[in-house]
Amino acid sequence: MSSRRRHPPKSEEASRAERALADIPEAYPRPLLQALHLLTRDGALNADARRKLKQIEHLLRTLDPAISDALIRFPEPVIVDCGAGKSSLGLLLAATRLRPAGRGRVIAVESRAELCERGRLVAQACELTQIEFQNCKITEVRERLPERVHLVTALHACDTATDEAIALALAVEADHVALVPCCQADLARQLAALGTSAQSTPHTELPSLYRHPWHRREFGSHLTNVMRALTLEAHGYQVTVTELAGFEHTLKNELILARRVHRVSHEARARLTALEDLFGVRLPIGPMP
Ligand SMILES: C[S@@+](CC[C@H](N)C(=O)[O-])C[C@H]1O[C@@H](n2cnc3c(N)ncnc32)[C@H](O)[C@@H]1O
Repeated sequence: MSSRRRHPPKSEEASRAERALADIPEAYPRPLLQALHLLTRDGALNADARRKLKQIEHLLRTLDPAISDALIRFPEPVIVDCGAGKSSLGLLLAATRLRPAGRGRVIAVESRAELCERGRLVAQACELTQIEFQNCKITEVRERLPERVHLVTALHACDTATDEAIALALAVEADHVALVPCCQADLARQLAALGTSAQSTPHTELPSLYRHPWHRREFGSHLTNVMRALTLEAHGYQVTVTELAGFEHTLKNELILARRVHRVSHEARARLTALEDLFGVRLPIGPMP
């Protein structure tokens, strides 16, 4: 029997997983990846985990300038991760960026107690002291935070939780903000409540943009993120909107990065007000400066 027959060719998926496994940087502790189910117990990488890991890795690399900036300027940088879920981002951030630096901490904010408890156990098992967990809503966390926060992140924080993260970042005057919004339904609800007939607004052509529920959801989500970026600019942030990773990795792919440059933009504020007036909608973020 030929050796080729005894060893059937690996499936494309298996070879891809092997290559991806070899590509994981040493700085990512294998036990942590296993605890986060990003590696199986045998140390293998499945397709789902590969996708998730790729997203997080890309986000971490994108956050590096903000993290380096905070590490250079502050002795104990504070990163607040809003809607942390299983805290994959926070735990990996702590393991691969803060532990090597020997400074700084991540505060993971999560409303589900069991996820916070799980995060604590994983951190303990991996001897990660650079992360702590706050089991509360984003709107309730401010008084539990130190005075100075250097980076606020929110990765796929559901619906208006991203707006809560923005409100928090503005309240604590975070130096950097990184948002990967999830689906947002609030503005679509507001548009639906206004009515979608041509008579519902003096701008009779506008309701065509969101008359169908599908369009209303997509348009509402786009308008939301445009208004989020303008809100940050209006409050003195320089904003970059880009993609998190290729569309093969996730459909919720928009990444909003903001750096506080202390220049309140009256122009952004005027643009935001114009959009609010044109469509009759408001983000649940609170009053302008
Ligand atoms: C879709 S998950 C994303 C989790 C994680 N950031 C990730 O990307 O894997 C959103 C998480 O945000 C939490 N969440 C939603 N609204 C929240 C709020 N207002 N305050 C705190 N946590 C919230 C949910 O419980 C959930 O665990």
